[in-house]
Amino acid sequence: MKKTIFVLSIVTALLLVMGIITKMNFAQKNSNISKDLENKKNLVAYFSHTGNTREIANQIHNITDSDIFEIKPIEDYPNNYQAVVDQAKKEINLNYKPALKTQIKNIESYDVIFVGSPNWWGTIAPPVATFLSTYNFEGKTIIPFITHGGSHMGRSVSDIKTLCPTAYITDSHSFWGSSVYSAQNEVSEWLEKTPD
Ligand SMILES: Cc1cc2nc3c(=O)[nH]c(=O)nc-3n(C[C@H](O)[C@H](O)[C@H](O)COP(=O)(O)O)c2cc1C
Repeated sequence: MKKTIFVLSIVTALLLVMGIITKMNFAQKNSNISKDLENKKNLVAYFSHTGNTREIANQIHNITDSDIFEIKPIEDYPNNYQAVVDQAKKEINLNYKPALKTQIKNIESYDVIFVGSPNWWGTIAPPVATFLSTYNFEGKTIIPFITHGGSHMGRSVSDIKTLCPTAYITDSHSFWGSSVYSAQNEVSEWLEKTPD
């Protein structure tokens, strides 16, 4: 009998400790996001050619516990730097919107959509323009994030506004492409006060 009580006490203590640890982890995960984000359904949708924007997208996804969606064109862009630069220039000048490989089914269920893109020729990459033109973002909050090689957001925000005139576009943030793997603090600080 004494032995049973002893075993039960140990099990109860273990369960208590496990419960406290789980709670601490949850609190830690959500401690650095604004109350607004915590209470909303959030999506991170991004396009990335060389991985920088994907890295920031994953950091946002991990901190906010949001869903994540990669915007992929049917035709991949060339790996050769000059070839992609030339193709992007042509597409942007023609306002071309490449068809996408994957669609998102339940966009209406999201309140806040983080939209990520590399800065290509001073604006969002064409697949992101396709994404923004495909769905109805009326009344939704769009938070743009851009990775760049020196020209920050460029005209990305005003171009997003033109594509989504009925969305609430706020708190955009740009990240140096060369520093994305050490941007955790910058991402956390930004998310603490987002959306404003
Ligand atoms: C086609 C192309 C055009 C670019 N144009 C610009 C630009 O106008 N301004 C800038 O700061 N960086 C520019 N860059 C650099 C990218 O914005 C930067 O490397 C970005 O972090 C890449 O993101 P990704 O790895 O997610 O594709 C360009 C890169 C490419 C491939």
